[in-house]
Amino acid sequence: MLSKWLHESNYTVVFTGAGMSTESGLPDFRSTNQGLWNQQDPSKIASTDALNNNVEAFMDFYRERVLGVKQYTPHKGHYILADWEKEGIIKSIITQNVDGFHQEAGSRRVAELHGTLQQVHCQQCGKVYKSEAFLNKDYHCTCGGVLRPSVVLFGEALPQEAFQFALNEAEKADLFIVLGSSLSVTPANQFPLIAKDHGAKLVIVNRDKTELDHFADEVIHHKAIGDVLESLT
Ligand code: APR
Repeated sequence: MLSKWLHESNYTVVFTGAGMSTESGLPDFRSTNQGLWNQQDPSKIASTDALNNNVEAFMDFYRERVLGVKQYTPHKGHYILADWEKEGIIKSIITQNVDGFHQEAGSRRVAELHGTLQQVHCQQCGKVYKSEAFLNKDYHCTCGGVLRPSVVLFGEALPQEAFQFALNEAEKADLFIVLGSSLSVTPANQFPLIAKDHGAKLVIVNRDKTELDHFADEVIHHKAIGDVLESLT
């Protein structure tokens, strides 16, 4: 049905999670074998508390993740979504991912709900630096403040502009496609429901079951996203 709906719809919005980037080589968070949160407790490493009280482990963890997004690249699925935007098949992407791979593949209308690893900023004065600073273990701002990745840490609010863009897109969608998310983190996981509440068809493409499968009009499990997208071109 997804192929039919994709070609019939006037306003398709795509929502991606970490499962969109595993085929690029980046680990996701909650997959049974490879998820990052199976090795680390996110509240102890990806939180404002960790930034203030567990700085060494925090910096090591995020330096590794910055290395990852520099080392890996978008895969065929990212490029297909970028082509679909150019062809008008999809209107926008709402992503929880911080790797910047959608933009690197050419997508333009992208809302990064959880920020980005492509830059770091000073926790004290807000000055922005390219994330290469982290690769050189240069963790301090010229003002003396601590540099941290421009991602949303547990305990922090989502960026207002990205949130508002995502809300507008979810409300306008007549087809809302989730790619590679367990849909277990709020408020990001509310957007599929907002789209559904505004009359959109909801399709979830995810290897494992998600928390919102029972709301979906179609669910595609046990398939790789890259292959699913390729089968629709
Ligand atoms: N094809 C299809 N599905 C996949 C693939 C793939 N190649 N690889 C992984 N998946 C699925 C997994 O089955 C998993 O359910 O992607 C899902 C990823 O879910 P999570 O690891 O929970 O990632 P996500 O939903 O993006 O997490 C949301 O949690 O920790 C926070 O800020 C972090 O943005 C993240 C948020």
